[in-house]
Amino acid sequence: MSKSSLELLLRPESIAVVGASRSPEKIGYQVVRNLLEAGFPREKIFPVNPHADEILGLKCYRSLLEIPYDVDLAVIVVPAPAVPDIIDEAGKKGVKAIAVITSGFKEIGNYELERKLVEVARKYNMRLLGPNIVGICDTVKNVNASFCQGLPSRGEIAFITQSGALGIALVGWTKLKGIGLSDLVSLGNKADVNEIDLLEFFEDDNHTRVITAYLEGIEDGRRFMEVARRVVRKKPIIILKAGRGARTAGAIKSHTGSLAGSFAAFEAAFKQSGVLLADSFIDLFDWAVALAKSYLPTGPNVVILTNGGGAGIMATDAAENWKVKLMDIPEDLAGKLRKHMPPFGSVFNPIDLTGMADAEQYYGALKDLLLDTRVNAVAVLYCHTAITNPLEIAQALVRAVRETGSKKTIVASFIGGEEVSNACSFLTENNIPCYESPEKAIAALGILYKYSKIRERVEKKTHIKVQADIDKARELISSVLREGRYVLTPAEAARLVSFYGIPVLQKILVRSPEEALRTARALGYPVVMEVESPDILHKSDIGGIILNIDSDEAVLEAYNKIMDNVAKKAPSARVQGIIVRKMAEKGKEVVIGIHRDPVFGPLVMVGSGGVLVELIKDVSFRIAPLALEDAAEMLEETKVYTILKGYRGEPPSDIDSVIDTLVKISQLALDIPEIEDIDINPFFVYEQGRGALAVDVKVTLVKPR
Ligand code: COA
Repeated sequence: MSKSSLELLLRPESIAVVGASRSPEKIGYQVVRNLLEAGFPREKIFPVNPHADEILGLKCYRSLLEIPYDVDLAVIVVPAPAVPDIIDEAGKKGVKAIAVITSGFKEIGNYELERKLVEVARKYNMRLLGPNIVGICDTVKNVNASFCQGLPSRGEIAFITQSGALGIALVGWTKLKGIGLSDLVSLGNKADVNEIDLLEFFEDDNHTRVITAYLEGIEDGRRFMEVARRVVRKKPIIILKAGRGARTAGAIKSHTGSLAGSFAAFEAAFKQSGVLLADSFIDLFDWAVALAKSYLPTGPNVVILTNGGGAGIMATDAAENWKVKLMDIPEDLAGKLRKHMPPFGSVFNPIDLTGMADAEQYYGALKDLLLDTRVNAVAVLYCHTAITNPLEIAQALVRAVRETGSKKTIVASFIGGEEVSNACSFLTENNIPCYESPEKAIAALGILYKYSKIRERVEKKTHIKVQADIDKARELISSVLREGRYVLTPAEAARLVSFYGIPVLQKILVRSPEEALRTARALGYPVVMEVESPDILHKSDIGGIILNIDSDEAVLEAYNKIMDNVAKKAPSARVQGIIVRKMAEKGKEVVIGIHRDPVFGPLVMVGSGGVLVELIKDVSFRIAPLALEDAAEMLEETKVYTILKGYRGEPPSDIDSVIDTLVKISQLALDIPEIEDIDINPFFVYEQGRGALAVDVKVTLVKPR
């Protein structure tokens, strides 16, 4: 079977180093040395340098074309201007893949030179990693084609990094922590190969059980989600995303836009596609080790086994945070466990074997727990005491697992000094991930549960077909654009969402006090009146809206007052008239919105509505389109959901109407790419079975740059 080009890049059989140097302080020298030291077959390493005959005892070639053997991968370490010609030579030689360590391209504004690299590589059908990378470390084939200090230890975690320096530093750190990697791949400028290609490669790589990455940005958000969603069914993805600051570019007028910021879309996309988001590289590797080493839990019942009450309490608190369920110990099991502890021990969960607990007692208790079918997972905690030997205890635990042949989830936390640290490493090496604190052990359990749920959830998502009058919606948008406008009037906005079956309050535009009076009488009191202007987005701020108008006189008065307020506070606004609408019956206030994200496309928002949305910030996001489960889940993340369910004896609200509207609005945003933002605020939700109503709808369109 022919190898894929990414396999030739990441698992090469032969490597040329172009720019291999004779000087030990140069990167070109270090790459050759690293390859040799990693144990890559020396007869498959081909240094290229026109000025040298031999480097580190290897024959040196004047050019790639002189090498009389096949070359899978060419690693390039010559100064930037020379790189395109070398790639051309590599193409002529029949090299399969290229890794460009050299800096000096897009990152310093040299776009043209970078574009050239890709153009030449594509001409010869070669994939190109970089430029501006540390290189590739692959522990499967002993490839250290990098200037990292040594090869990481072998393991089953792939680490993709957009920061070269972090990659270099993590080689040493992961070794110190006893964490093994299958690969460490530096992405650099991602001129060709990007994180999506690597996800696809590691998806099918038998040597990798967990895919991790440090990323600063993603270019094709939608494709990323599609691939990630598929990959997480097979193996977990954990990402540390840097650059979370709020978006600063331009003034964002909509609620959804200002609440979203730039990170919300990443968070939403990761959640939706089942990617685990880590806050630090320490969490990232703690979780990765758990996922690489442990079995996934098959049920909710967790037991904590400890020799210290404090550690047990800390773990119990952590379990609450991570929503890990501690099982009530049934009497028959408690009876068995009592045999492994002094009379002053405790068989309540956490099971406290007391500070006297020795290796045999840990062994006996763990064995009983593993053999009990009601127990699904165990967290073993140990605090170092003068009367116990941590390594013996660790060995006893491993023995208990071996003898029972258990496939249950087990994590551990051993707390203490150097001796404990060795015992902890022993446990991790024997597939019981061990951590330095109870909180970390429980977090690891929490992640194992989270990933099992992700796998279940990704498999069953329900996408419904939204019935909509797309043609009418498109026609409306075109007519607004033809007039050179980018903000829909409230009446237009209401019509637009009604084409998608979203329940919305009808608005009638009037241009004189008399017309207002006739309309109000026809609608029936009370009514609301508000200014209609494409230039005024938040009307209450300038007194452009009056509620609860309940008589003929009040209508006439309101008409003049609104016009006065607008003339004073927004004198330059274009005023098209005044909208009269029925005063809607008040419901629970929800906000629903859309904001087009440059990376992921339409971002959908739901949360607590009303005038204080930005202050309260009770919102949650997902990327369109939404499955019913996505819509339900995002709503469940908000506080307003508790209110909608029926808070303090109130009857439940019509939650289905919110879910339905979220699904419909996300489809609208996908169908009409001209839409930049939609805000529905308030969206009144009535009692269950009585539906909901979009009261105020604002729509802005994408302005050409
Ligand atoms: N083909 C083959 N070898 C060539 C060559 C060519 N066309 N042109 C030059 N060389 C040789 C040089 O003779 C030299 O070997 P020598 O020391 O034995 O004489 C070697 O290649 C390196 O070239 P040199 O000009 O000395 O460059 P350098 O080592 O100072 O720098 C880079 C080259 C690529 C390391 C440097 O340009 C660079 O980009 N550094 C940053 C790398 C980095 O940080 N990457 C990102 C990490 S996140």
